Amino acid sequence: MCAFFAENTLSFALREKTKAIHDRTDHRIMSMGLFSSLNGYRMFLLSQYIFHRDITKIYEDETLLRILPDLKSRNRFACIEADMRDLCLPPPPASSGDVIPFNPSVAVGWLYVAEGSKLGANILSRMSLALGLTESFGARHLAPAPEGRGQSWKVFKAAIDGAEFDQNMCVAAGDEAFTRFVTCLDLAQKLMEDDTINGAVKGRAML
Ligand code: HEM
Repeated sequence: MCAFFAENTLSFALREKTKAIHDRTDHRIMSMGLFSSLNGYRMFLLSQYIFHRDITKIYEDETLLRILPDLKSRNRFACIEADMRDLCLPPPPASSGDVIPFNPSVAVGWLYVAEGSKLGANILSRMSLALGLTESFGARHLAPAPEGRGQSWKVFKAAIDGAEFDQNMCVAAGDEAFTRFVTCLDLAQKLMEDDTINGAVKGRAML
């Protein structure tokens, strides 16, 4: 695609307008040392669990399935649950409620954040190797799609760029999703201090 057309796309607008909040999220994760120890990684996993638990319905949506036929297989929630079992993390208390009011443009903004985070997962997956975690133990949800991260991302961008979503709504929702992820980090931090989670990890963790 030539530069002029690429810069007029929804995916380009989402990238440009959420760049600052992505950078802040990235720095927050690094400053918390989440990839420096297994307990740090458990905290990251809990934040992923809370974030993905609340968006799991998006992957079932009929409107979005029409533009992205492989949508269901993009959902990493089951992998996150399996990673938690590997690391003896019990599921935290039930959802705080409907984080996302359902509207296809809003859903696409949230999906952009979840799908895009699979690119950065390349770096995170390499860091998790140093903790003894792999794509079949503890870090399943950071593994690339079978067709490769680049190809999966290309297909996602082409699908949203080719459909008619409300750009302002998508961007606002993308921003909201990043903000929610940061809240999930705070929630995960509190949960790791909680006796139920801490006790379960101390009592059962083999790593
Ligand atoms: C320390 C943690 C993180 C690092 C180091 C990181 C790093 C990266 C990198 C290097 C890319 C660009 C990859 C490429 O263009 O090939 C990227 C893209 C992206 N990441 Fe992250 N990321 C992190 C965390 C996150 C989180 C937690 C989220 C979401 C909650 C997220 C959402 C995104 C999105 C949406 C994109 C796509 C940007 C675009 O439109 O091109 N990232 N990340």
